[in-house]
Amino acid sequence: MKPLDRLVIRRPDDWHVHLRDGAMLEAVLSATARVFARAVVMPNLRPPITTVEAARGYRQRIESLLPENNGFTPLMTAYLTDDLDPGEVERGFFEGVFAAAKLYPANATTNSAAGVSDLVLIAPLLERMEAIKMPLLIHGEVTDPDVDVFDREAVFIERHLIPLRERHPELRIVLEHITTEDAVDYVSDCDELLAATITPHHLHLNRNSMFVGGLKSDFYCLPVVKRECHRRALVKAATSGLPCFFLGTDSAPHPRSGKESACGCAGIFNAMHAIESYAAVFDQEGALDRLEGFASEFGPRFYGLPLNTEKVTLLRQPQIVPHLLNLPEGGIEGLDPGEVPVHFHSGETLAWSLESV
Ligand code: DOR
Ligand code: ZN
Repeated sequence: MKPLDRLVIRRPDDWHVHLRDGAMLEAVLSATARVFARAVVMPNLRPPITTVEAARGYRQRIESLLPENNGFTPLMTAYLTDDLDPGEVERGFFEGVFAAAKLYPANATTNSAAGVSDLVLIAPLLERMEAIKMPLLIHGEVTDPDVDVFDREAVFIERHLIPLRERHPELRIVLEHITTEDAVDYVSDCDELLAATITPHHLHLNRNSMFVGGLKSDFYCLPVVKRECHRRALVKAATSGLPCFFLGTDSAPHPRSGKESACGCAGIFNAMHAIESYAAVFDQEGALDRLEGFASEFGPRFYGLPLNTEKVTLLRQPQIVPHLLNLPEGGIEGLDPGEVPVHFHSGETLAWSLESV
């Protein structure tokens, strides 16, 4: 049979992205907004987004950078802390400002120092979220220094997620950017109240990739990429057609000096070619017919939001991914051109291209 060379799917959404703020936001926003209709925007700014007012302000700054009639909707999140008022989170949810709340275990990742130190401390808040059916988005890694960094997700599931779901059986949870077979198995076995997002980079990279020919800081992210058997399990899950697995890029741009440093930041900037990157994986698996469910249907169903009605077209047309994000003519004030983030897949050829609209 002739391979498919044109694929039309419902416009996708990104259920997990870091858009940053200020000049970096200005530089990266269009990479997400050019293809995704909606994106769940992470709140780990400095200071983090912990109030309805802060989220409204951030949303406004995002919207002010979008061209007229772009049709992109940012979905804002609340950053949970030990003492966040459940009333504030609930108000934000009912006023249509917070689509979800994000749980960072304190010090698990970038800008998570103000995160939650003990899940039991926020039990009243979680009960409230459970009652109002507000999704909890979890960075699922333990921070215990005695746990090997490659085991932190699996240990989080055992130590924290299973007991959490016993304490809050009605809570809607997304285990974000899963990286292990353990997470795949756990999520597949659960009910419709638990889902997981999967990033393009965790579908393409295994932990060897970080060390091929030298230390590749551009492939460093959290949770860190794992062994090949885990990557394979993620590919199987993403292409399975199971509605509990859906698209979340975790695109996380950092200035070059932050990545190319003796103590480099975690995060991969994949927004610009994310849908083409996923398409490559689905194509390799002979599962292009399942891309639309993963990218455009299972996420909104989980969040209880309508499906997008517009379409995007992918063409089997090779493209070489440039090294750096292109800035508009004249650059962006406050962003040194030497600090522009590197694209995921930089220098590689991707077999699929997005048809320009
Ligand atoms: O790699 C990551 N980068 N993982 C995270 O959890 C945070 C993100 C960031 O904000 O840079
Ligand atoms: Zn993230």
